[in-house]
Amino acid sequence: MNLLVTGGAGFIGSHLCEELLELGHVVTALDNFSNGNQSNVAHLREDPNFRLIEGDCSHVPTVDPLIKKNDVVFHLAAVLGVKHCVDSPLKVIKENLSGTSTILESAARYNKRVVFASSSEVYGKSESLPYKEDGDRLLGSTHVHRWCYSTAKSMEEHLCLAYGKEGLPVTILRYFNAYGPRANDSIYGGVVPIFVKAAIENKEITLFGDGTQSRCFTFVKDTAKATALVLEKDTDQQIINIGTNEGTSIAELATIVKTCTQSSSPIKQISYEEAYGEGFEDMRKRIPCIEKARNLLNFVPETDLIEGIQALVNSYQKTNLSYP
Ligand code: UD1
Repeated sequence: MNLLVTGGAGFIGSHLCEELLELGHVVTALDNFSNGNQSNVAHLREDPNFRLIEGDCSHVPTVDPLIKKNDVVFHLAAVLGVKHCVDSPLKVIKENLSGTSTILESAARYNKRVVFASSSEVYGKSESLPYKEDGDRLLGSTHVHRWCYSTAKSMEEHLCLAYGKEGLPVTILRYFNAYGPRANDSIYGGVVPIFVKAAIENKEITLFGDGTQSRCFTFVKDTAKATALVLEKDTDQQIINIGTNEGTSIAELATIVKTCTQSSSPIKQISYEEAYGEGFEDMRKRIPCIEKARNLLNFVPETDLIEGIQALVNSYQKTNLSYP
């Protein structure tokens, strides 16, 4: 099949391109390199079935002919990260909504299937664990910018399902804390690459809050594999959680990372206010119900946290000169 991956030079997108090429598809990656990077797909450039296009997924003249030419669009391009939400909520809201509405409008024009990358953030701070795809969501005040990404992704899901109601084939995947090689390790990235980088450099590892909050960290190759499985199954109009259901607290994560890297990094604790400013809200726990992924996609995550962190550490050893 001919497949378009928006955000294809990004973290999850680049792993998805790899997976789809391995399955024998012809893959076009569209990326504006805001989060993505040419180096994430440098190893794919020689593959005759791979093409990388620089462009924005909200730019109709770029997107429209690409969607026309391809059979399915995997829409992964997004502005995300908690720090982005608190620093630049306008960018998070505008770019995410406009990208997704452009993609859906073109997909509807040519009746092309859309697989939309949503997020576990959609559940907000709900305490009805494990999160089921049809469960309620619980968000804080709109004064708390952290929730703007959750709100944008929820609106984008609504938009997908609204086009779906008009006949467009759509599938929504809610990713739970993907981590692994090529993850953004800057302050705008996720906690796993931030901790691993700090540990490798023997710098301070910082827990925000008391460190007892937990997440279900999912190795990116599992995330990509689950996403590709959508091609083989009937998942029309479905929302599916993609992740492990093994929770790890952030304090435990720090210890695991230190052990895997044999690091001497001190572990420090700071308040959420110090990390993200006044009035920040976080969820204590986030655990997916993964029955639907198992039943509809026959997907079960394979990589445990230690193995996944080791793969991330190895990727630094190969590529990062700062590794001691
Ligand atoms: C964020 C994203 C989510 C994405 C996930 C994984 C938003 C609003 N949320 O969620 O969509 O799936 O990242 O990339 O964009 N922490 C520390 N020290 C640090 C960094 C983080 O203690 O140096 C803590 C945070 O306070 C939080 C936990 O680690 O409690 C996880 O943080 P993070 O990796 O940013 O992920 P999420 O908040 O789950």
